[in-house]
Amino acid sequence: MAATEISKNIFWVGAVDWDRRLFDELIPTPEGTSYNSYLVRGGEKIALIDTVDPSKTGDLLDNLQEAGVTRIDYIVSQHAEQDHSGSIPEVLEIFPEALVVTNEKCKAMLIDLLPIPENKFKTVADGEKLDLGGKSLEFIFAPWVHWPETMLAYLREDKILFSCDFLGAHLAQSRPLLSDEYHTLQTAKRYFAEIMMPFRIPIRKHLEKLKGLEIDMIAPSHGVVYPRPALILDAYGEWVSDATRNLALIPFVSMHGSTREMVEHLTGALVRQGVEVKPFNLIHTDVGELARELVDASTVVLATPTVLGGAHPAVAHAAFLVNALRPKLKFASIIGSYGWGGRAVENLLASLTNIKVELLEPVLAKGAPKEKEFQALDGLAAAIAEKHRGSGVLS
Ligand code: FEO
Repeated sequence: MAATEISKNIFWVGAVDWDRRLFDELIPTPEGTSYNSYLVRGGEKIALIDTVDPSKTGDLLDNLQEAGVTRIDYIVSQHAEQDHSGSIPEVLEIFPEALVVTNEKCKAMLIDLLPIPENKFKTVADGEKLDLGGKSLEFIFAPWVHWPETMLAYLREDKILFSCDFLGAHLAQSRPLLSDEYHTLQTAKRYFAEIMMPFRIPIRKHLEKLKGLEIDMIAPSHGVVYPRPALILDAYGEWVSDATRNLALIPFVSMHGSTREMVEHLTGALVRQGVEVKPFNLIHTDVGELARELVDASTVVLATPTVLGGAHPAVAHAAFLVNALRPKLKFASIIGSYGWGGRAVENLLASLTNIKVELLEPVLAKGAPKEKEFQALDGLAAAIAEKHRGSGVLS
């Protein structure tokens, strides 16, 4: 994709990865992604903010050539993960005069991960400025968005925040500037769920810190550039708050139909109680969709058949994911079926140690569910509705 001027003397020179469908061999990216690298031309110095994934180094170098870059003074590395740092060694080969500007923690990680000589670094402190001549980059340490070394860069003269992974989205688009607010927000919410949600608490502090800055544009290292920063800042404010919605999620697997019957019954019962509900068949669901809904759901009901004495592995995986992402869920339960016994409930509960939820009485059926279990599911739906009323999300 072509080098693009996003503000005067500031160019997007990154790479769009239309084909990427899995990130970190973990996160589904159904809409691809981008590795955004930005070139800032000051009156005296030229800085490149982040590079790109090593698989796309050629795109970055082509864009630098297209932008007429013959010298780079600084390569600012905001985050050591290779999708932003992986091209630094090749950029240094072509622009040997450049120094890698980063913090001490990131420097150590970059040396661990990449062949960058120690004498190529210039380290900066939190709040330190890098003068480019008429433009200056101010560094804001922001641990845990995404790794502990991550920092942001604020270009005060142009009121642009380069936010690295923070506030980004896995979205491939042919222009770097945002073109569809609704669509971007949906992808950004999913990205938040998969990458940022476990760090909700530190993110609150970062958002507070940003309130002290005048920001006209946010330029993250994935997804699109936000010309209206309030869009993503306000959304993050909601996502990291403790507020949940009147929403119950039912991730499920059914092998022979019994668990499915229970899920369908519970879904109907919840709807009749006024609770919004989303069942997710885990065999067909992209777990990123489940993650996105976990951002503000109040309740999760894991539904599983019994396999080899325990929960179905796909449901166990969903429980592991829920636990790892640390959503702000308030209530949980487990439903499912078994043939001759098992420990599915104990298995799943053992995986939910990170989240502080109130457990509502599980419902298990021996074989196909019968009237007794359907009544218990009606009782579970009523209990969920009551809890949602009690927490103020259902009137
Ligand atoms: Fe986009 Fe944590 O790297």
